[in-house]
Amino acid sequence: MSFLVENLPLFFTIFFLFFNSSIATYNIKNYGAKSNGKSDSSKAFVSAWAEACASTSPATIYVPEGSYLLKSAYFHGETCKSKAITLRIDGTILAPSDYSVIGNEENWIKFEKVTRVSIYGGTLDGQGASLWACKTSGKNCPQGTMGLTFSNSSNIVISGLTSRNSQMFHILVDSCQNVKLWGVKVSAPGNSPNTDGIHVQYSSTVTIMNSRIGTGDDCISIGPGTSNLWIENIACGPGHGISIGSLGWEVEEAGVENVTVKTVTFTGTQNGLRVKTWARSSNGFVRNILFQHIVMANVQNPIIIDQNYCPNNKNCPHQGSGVKISDIRYRDIRGTSATKVAVKFDCSKKYPCSGISLEDVNLSYKDQPAEASCANAGGRASGFQKPTSCL
Ligand SMILES: *[C@@H]1O[C@H](CO)[C@@H](O)[C@H](O)[C@H]1NC(C)=O
Ligand SMILES: *[C@@H]1O[C@H](CO)[C@@H](O)[C@H](O)[C@H]1NC(C)=O
Ligand SMILES: *[C@@H]1O[C@H](CO)[C@@H](O)[C@H](O)[C@H]1NC(C)=O
Repeated sequence: MSFLVENLPLFFTIFFLFFNSSIATYNIKNYGAKSNGKSDSSKAFVSAWAEACASTSPATIYVPEGSYLLKSAYFHGETCKSKAITLRIDGTILAPSDYSVIGNEENWIKFEKVTRVSIYGGTLDGQGASLWACKTSGKNCPQGTMGLTFSNSSNIVISGLTSRNSQMFHILVDSCQNVKLWGVKVSAPGNSPNTDGIHVQYSSTVTIMNSRIGTGDDCISIGPGTSNLWIENIACGPGHGISIGSLGWEVEEAGVENVTVKTVTFTGTQNGLRVKTWARSSNGFVRNILFQHIVMANVQNPIIIDQNYCPNNKNCPHQGSGVKISDIRYRDIRGTSATKVAVKFDCSKKYPCSGISLEDVNLSYKDQPAEASCANAGGRASGFQKPTSCL
């Protein structure tokens, strides 16, 4: 490089220096990362981050092609000087395949208190199979670690990333503002436990678009304190669908509002559009939700509000949910249900659902009429209705 610079006219030298100083690039291989998938590259990632973070100009961390074993990475942003950090990944980042190494850690790759961080491309492979096998065998196993976490952060872009086979949730967005997840692929086997695709909680202004998600749990799950969430153009399956909840476990709990879910195809999933709450006291709420242009292909519970949520029917509370559900619109929902009850509103006996709206629903069950079932649900239906509305 310096040979080149010396031999260029002054004009080009200045141009080069200007360019070089305006975007600094930190290649993890220069920090000792090995692309053999076997040597732990954690230190290289953390060192590259430290330099990118200290850079006074926008910085790019580059992960070239190859496989990099990463035991854990914690990227803290509070003291960063750089105004923007990009992680450009051409390679694959591997978690240890032996679950005992990080199975008791909360997070595998975690960004905390960062602003303007973008991730482009790359594959994260959580190698969760050994943990799932342990859990499935009923042995005493660690809970497992989250794949990629952003916590307390803002202005985040994740684009073109593939996340597969995480021990637990693949991508967690917690206490963040302004997050874009675009063109993301998440995959894990349909029988892998707790492998939610993307979980969002205590966050606002999050968009998830043009993504394909298939896992053993929810494709997207939406926790307390989520507002202004936009989900569009998603293929979901296998998995448990898109779920708001579980909510209402806590007495004091932040609500969920202003969620749009648009142009989604569910294929062979356990649920399509689900809202679930525990049947106990809470000040939580769910309001102003729009589900539009949704296609169901052989989905067990295409439309469901379950305020008596009780997984495995074991030791659940039955006090009646305190979570107030209102203004939920279902518009242009069509396709096939895998069970007879295609629409189920099982709302709280203490706080009935209000303002539920069904507009143009066309769901069939094999060659028989599908059914709708309502308990404590108020609202109205308009346009085409199959099954016949129970509102
Ligand atoms: C976010 O940061 C605030 C202030 O530092 C802290 O109180 C809070 O616990 C953090 N939240 C999370 C989820 O880390
Ligand atoms: C939700 O949307 C409503 C109506 O657009 C708006 O008034 C309200 O501030 C939004 N809520 C949040 C938490 O941003
Ligand atoms: C409802 O769906 C069936 C099966 O796909 C289709 O034949 C029918 O035309 C649809 N009806 C309306 C009103 O969209």
